[in-house]
Amino acid sequence: MTSQPTLMASLDLQDVAHQLVQQFMDELQEMLDDLISGTLSAQQANVLSKIVSFFDNEMKQHHVEEERHIFPVLLSKDNELLREKVRMLKADHDELRKGWSDLKRAIEQMAASPAADGKTLRACFERYSECFARHLVLEESVQYSPEAKLLFKSWDS
Ligand SMILES: [Fe+2]
Ligand SMILES: [Fe+2]
Repeated sequence: MTSQPTLMASLDLQDVAHQLVQQFMDELQEMLDDLISGTLSAQQANVLSKIVSFFDNEMKQHHVEEERHIFPVLLSKDNELLREKVRMLKADHDELRKGWSDLKRAIEQMAASPAADGKTLRACFERYSECFARHLVLEESVQYSPEAKLLFKSWDS
């Protein structure tokens, strides 16, 4: 039996984390033009640093906890379709880690020298955003499976 995670021991907390991803990706997209043209307001810069911190800390931790506490349990179930989905989720995590590292670097470079060519930043954003959108749909189909619901229920008691 795996131990209980700290940040995500319920379906509600999972949903909150996933909603924050969508909200922060939307906010980031809205400020890309201003970031590229070097016209971010102080308030936008403040929001941007919160977004970077969220993907850099909470999201990395979220992936690690899923890999430690959820994926191994689901991989042990006698359900090949579920196992295949979980393997795809793990592959997405690897892609998301790389995608975030590229996007974070592009954000930092643009913040340091705005008005540079925004192509790299936009391409990194698109890649990360597409991968996350795909990941959340697949992950939500897995976390509402009977096997996952059982696991979350076991943490409730
Ligand atoms: Fe997740
Ligand atoms: Fe995930």
